[in-house]
Amino acid sequence: MFNKLSLKIGMLFFVFILIIETFLYSILYTNLANERIEEVMDNLLARGNTHSDVLEEHFNQTTLEHVAIMESESDFAVVITDASGFVIVHSDPIDEEMLEVIKHTDTHQIPTDGKVIEERWMEKDYIATDSPITINEEHQGHVFMFADTDNIKRIVDHLSDQFLIIGFITIILTIITVFILSRLITKPLIEITKATEQLSKGRNRVELQTDRSDELGELANSITTLSNDLEHMKKERNEFLASISHELRTPLTYIKGYADIISRDDITDDEKSEYLEIIREETEQLTVLVRNLFNLAKMDQNTFGINRQNIEFGKLIYTITERIRPALEEKNIIFLVSCPSNIIANIDPDRMQQVLLNILDNAKKHTSEGKRISVEVYQNKHNIKTIISDEGEGIPEEDLPYIFERLYRVEKSRSRLSGGTGLGLAIAKEIVESHGGSIEVNSKIGEGTSFEIILQRGEHIE
Ligand SMILES: Nc1ncnc2c1ncn2[C@@H]1O[C@H](COP(=O)(O)OP(=O)(O)OP(=O)(O)O)[C@@H](O)[C@H]1O
Ligand SMILES: [Mg+2]
Repeated sequence: MFNKLSLKIGMLFFVFILIIETFLYSILYTNLANERIEEVMDNLLARGNTHSDVLEEHFNQTTLEHVAIMESESDFAVVITDASGFVIVHSDPIDEEMLEVIKHTDTHQIPTDGKVIEERWMEKDYIATDSPITINEEHQGHVFMFADTDNIKRIVDHLSDQFLIIGFITIILTIITVFILSRLITKPLIEITKATEQLSKGRNRVELQTDRSDELGELANSITTLSNDLEHMKKERNEFLASISHELRTPLTYIKGYADIISRDDITDDEKSEYLEIIREETEQLTVLVRNLFNLAKMDQNTFGINRQNIEFGKLIYTITERIRPALEEKNIIFLVSCPSNIIANIDPDRMQQVLLNILDNAKKHTSEGKRISVEVYQNKHNIKTIISDEGEGIPEEDLPYIFERLYRVEKSRSRLSGGTGLGLAIAKEIVESHGGSIEVNSKIGEGTSFEIILQRGEHIE
């Protein structure tokens, strides 16, 4: 029931709160106790002062005895001396400690309104005050008041008891609060741990309670998203494997079929060489497919080397466009290229050539005679923008979001002549992105397609 984290958090809270509480309580206790003690002393002094006031008016035997009788009935004791310290009357028996106080008081130092002369309530049996009887500005005698310190001790003990009870209740409440608090924090953490354990055991989806808006809620949200992503990835992988086996099966069926036909006796040499040619084409297709898949796998593992160098972008464009120009002219396609000559790009020329060739090759495949394909390059302060557009058949809107996906083709039936594997754009996107760039497509059915590649500029070579 107690896990390590909640115990740790709980202990930490508890110790902190306990320290703070002890500190506050001890201040409160000391203040309260001092106040009570002072109150008792003030009381005692006021009483002594009242007696001395009365005696200042009537300093005679009757009044003296009157005062003594009054105090013999109270909790206090009074001792009245003359100016030289000789005891005239007393209300209670005088014990040694009282005598000591009376003897050792420097009566000349006592102000007219009296003074507390013994306040060590913890050590002594009495606290004491002295109120001088001043007649015509001369000390005629002293009223010593004594209060048993048992009284004060009782008050302080009572206070201590109350504090002990309050302290005890506070500690229990603290423990409960800390317990609930630490559970509140650790419970979602435990749920998250369980969820991640399940994820690693192979369960695809976990739903975590995500109604919290704090950091724990965010963590739970991230994990739910992660599990969704994981599920999506697994689904994608399965679909990908299914399409690969489909892609492989079709050419293999052709190859096997034609090989069977060739091995029959009743076919002519012409037919034989025609079928052999088909087998050769299919094998080449398969080789390309396998090579492309291998490249993509390497890209996924980040082992696909990008060999960046500062090159003149115009030269690269020239090499590529000249390479494809004959094929376009043969198809009677108008080919326009415009590229400023001073652009420096920090790229891998071979990989980028692969990207541009694939896009141009796509454009060629989907553009009919007499139409136009153009390559335009622009640069601004940070980027180089390459736009390759054609006036071809265009891509249906519903296919546009998927055309960078692996093995995705618009025309689903794989015709042997159009021959695409559906990997070209996926590879192109990976390459452009591993250069830190981006690739986007715009297309309108019947009007044409344009691809826009944005790359960072390189450093200028002088
Ligand atoms: N310029 C374009 N005009 C019309 N459709 C296009 C254009 N470029 C690409 N497509 C569509 O996008 C699909 C994906 O292109 P991609 O280059 O990835 O594959 P592919 O050309 O079929 O095969 P590969 O390039 O691997 O030989 C193509 O099958 C095609 O349907
Ligand atoms: Mg292609």
